[in-house]
Amino acid sequence: FTVLRQRVHVRISIPELSNTTVFMKDRERVQNILQSMMKAGSNTLQVISDFDMTLTRFAHNGNRCPTCHNILDNSKLISDECKEKLTELFNTYYPIEIDVSRSVEEKLPLMVDWWTKAHELLVQQKIRKDLLAMVVRESNAMLREGYQLFFGHLHEHSIPLLIFSAGIGDILEEVIRQAGVFHPNVNVFSNYMDFDESGVLKAFKGELIHIYNKREGALLNTGHFQELRTRPNVLLMGDSLGDLTMADGVQDMENILKIGFLNDKVEERKQAYLDSYDIVLVKDETLEVPNGILLYLTGNK
Ligand code: TMP
Ligand code: MG
Repeated sequence: FTVLRQRVHVRISIPELSNTTVFMKDRERVQNILQSMMKAGSNTLQVISDFDMTLTRFAHNGNRCPTCHNILDNSKLISDECKEKLTELFNTYYPIEIDVSRSVEEKLPLMVDWWTKAHELLVQQKIRKDLLAMVVRESNAMLREGYQLFFGHLHEHSIPLLIFSAGIGDILEEVIRQAGVFHPNVNVFSNYMDFDESGVLKAFKGELIHIYNKREGALLNTGHFQELRTRPNVLLMGDSLGDLTMADGVQDMENILKIGFLNDKVEERKQAYLDSYDIVLVKDETLEVPNGILLYLTGNK
């Protein structure tokens, strides 16, 4: 095992791949994909990443960090009664989301129920658009360590970053705007709020994106992937098995490297993650590994 690690180190010089948080089922395969992608050049690369618990932290100092929904749920824009109901939904459905003993088919309608119920509750709260920036500012939202380098490097090399989130687009954009990393190479697919003339939330726009329909979401956005058709090499980052289909709209794909953050219920889920993600990062709250890979792919090493 150690010998293999050293070989990775020598052959493709990404020292971060030797971090103790890194697990791979097939290191040789990862090396081959990385080598092909590096040879093809960074002008053929696009990055597709989930947001909650992928670009943001799962925990900090032992406390859970908020998702986009949680940022809003915990804010003073929501009544105590509504907070209770949203917490109850989270406590009911989050364990189902991460339950490996249930199939996606079984979970899918339950996830639709969660999102639908949560969005109905939020719409009842008469949330004002002009207060969202304050809500995010006052929240505990936290991007993963190394985010400046991640966003900055992609921007510097004009590599498109698609943030594909079943969270709330308006909140997510505010988080990256306030962090100073909403660069022009960033695009977002997510659930966006629809406001009435007086700026009060009245509904959510378009088709709902939940944790298990990202494939459908991708296929609705053919225009985006059409524009990126000269970039057939994809770096995909997610934390849920539902994130694996985010790249299903990519045209003429040549190589894809999938990085999965395994944050919770590690023992139960490790095998499933190893079987579907090329690189699994176990309880890793940083973007060190994606950054190391990006530096390699852009020839900065
Ligand atoms: P993501 O696609 O950006 O990871 O966003 C989905 C996450 O949002 C998923 O892990 C569940 C979470 N979520 C909440 O925290 N509260 C909610 O009310 C809903 C509907 C989802
Ligand atoms: Mg996520």
